[in-house]
Amino acid sequence: MSNKYYITTPIYYVNAAPHIGHSYTTIAADVLSRFKRRQLGPEHVRFLTGTDEHGQKIQKAADAAKLSAQAFVDQTSQKFRSLWQSLNVSYDDFIRTTEPRHIKVVQKSLEILFKKGDIYEGKYEGLYCTPCETFWLEAQAIGGLCPDCQRPVERIIETNYFFKLSKYQDWLLGFLKERPDFIKPASRYEETLRFLELNKLNDLCISRPKERLSWGIPLPFAPEHVTYVWFDALINYISAVGDFDSQDNYVSQWWPADLHLMAKDILRQHTVYWPIMLQALNIKLPKAVFAHGWWMINEDKMSKSRGNVVNPLEMIEKFGLDAYRYFLLREVPFGLDGNFSEEGIIKRYNSDLANDLGNLVYRTLTMVEKYFDGNIPGIDFSQLQNSQRVSDILAKIKHLESRVCQALDESNFSLALEAIWELIAMANKHVEETKPWNLAKENKQEELKEFIRLLVDVIRAVAGQLEIFIPQTALLIQEQFKADKIKKGNPLFPRIETKKK
Ligand code: MSP
Repeated sequence: MSNKYYITTPIYYVNAAPHIGHSYTTIAADVLSRFKRRQLGPEHVRFLTGTDEHGQKIQKAADAAKLSAQAFVDQTSQKFRSLWQSLNVSYDDFIRTTEPRHIKVVQKSLEILFKKGDIYEGKYEGLYCTPCETFWLEAQAIGGLCPDCQRPVERIIETNYFFKLSKYQDWLLGFLKERPDFIKPASRYEETLRFLELNKLNDLCISRPKERLSWGIPLPFAPEHVTYVWFDALINYISAVGDFDSQDNYVSQWWPADLHLMAKDILRQHTVYWPIMLQALNIKLPKAVFAHGWWMINEDKMSKSRGNVVNPLEMIEKFGLDAYRYFLLREVPFGLDGNFSEEGIIKRYNSDLANDLGNLVYRTLTMVEKYFDGNIPGIDFSQLQNSQRVSDILAKIKHLESRVCQALDESNFSLALEAIWELIAMANKHVEETKPWNLAKENKQEELKEFIRLLVDVIRAVAGQLEIFIPQTALLIQEQFKADKIKKGNPLFPRIETKKK
């Protein structure tokens, strides 16, 4: 397919329940998918998300929950799926790394690379903590003790399989130098380039002996080993949309991906391991990788051990789905870190959603009802001598879509929303400056009609763009203004009163 758009989120680990960080990437991907569906038609867009279900962490979490690994991953994977439903996320496909379609492509990839000599058998040596099942570097295991549990570590030498990352380092550097647009934002591109210029890549150990970890995909040429979780996980992007033919060529109508979205924590896997894996497999590279920032809680990282993990379901229960989506997309420029707080949401809610958007919609509905019995006046502005202020608003309406598109082409959600809110602010100002109640008192019918019709046009344009970001709200507004007669409902975003301390 030539005119297509294939976008992915990371596949999330199922060792814990989803939190606001996961929801951020997924909502961002949802917005871009909705945007592209409008541009290209729904059948030309593929939005993939899913769950990463193998590996030690997951095995451990399953053990702790006293469940079989399979039963455990079935359970948590479902939590992600149902969260996406609650967040109005329009994914087209949900891949799980325990699915046969995925396992098949992983094993085939391993086989191709092994045949080619890019995967080879070697010795792995390291300091191992048996109770924690973790390898440590000399520098980490101070005094020969595990930094986690303080028990002695053991020196282990074991046979493992390695992937020749080192062979492709020069190729990758050359590729990146030619393609500065491959990694976004630019700061992440620079970071990757510097890393590759300053460090020599080691080959990547891609296997784990089965006796240490059985919860993984067996290597087809060495079934007593399972594959390393990252090697397994990255392949989801191709296993979900294609397969190898009998000549070992990868065939897919969707690949290459147009955009891999993620946060900066997993940038290197996506900009070093993944391009090299694809190049070695003779598969095209994705068009771009975007690594956004982190949501922090009081400037601190979110984690289970800190006990500060925020559950998105709680947020939407408190503030409503669209207030939550709006906050995430508007508050922080995509790419930078942000601080998540309920006060922050309330502030945005009261100012942008209640005061600006909600107020514009509700006061317009009220005026249409009061002055025109609920009928939207028909006016053709191109036939009128418009004031400067009205002309400015009309121009803003006309250019709104292209401004939103431009911003979204750069994954700049906050800028796109700013453009929409500029128009909302202009319209609200127009109400205050026109003082329609005076027009009504003086019986200036024509002027009042023009005035109200302009507000309706603003609202329709705004709702048309909001569809991409906060679809539920957009739909509500569109219903209210769809026909010539309005359907007035309750105010969209009633103010949240906060108790003064
Ligand atoms: N399973 C791997 C990814 C494999 S992709 C081939 C993994 N999973 S994860 O569950 O840890 O998810 C990491 C991703 O979750 C981040 O890259 C980001 O998309 C999202 N986030 C997790 N915490 C986040 C924040 N605090 N803030 C923003 N995004 C966060 O890594």
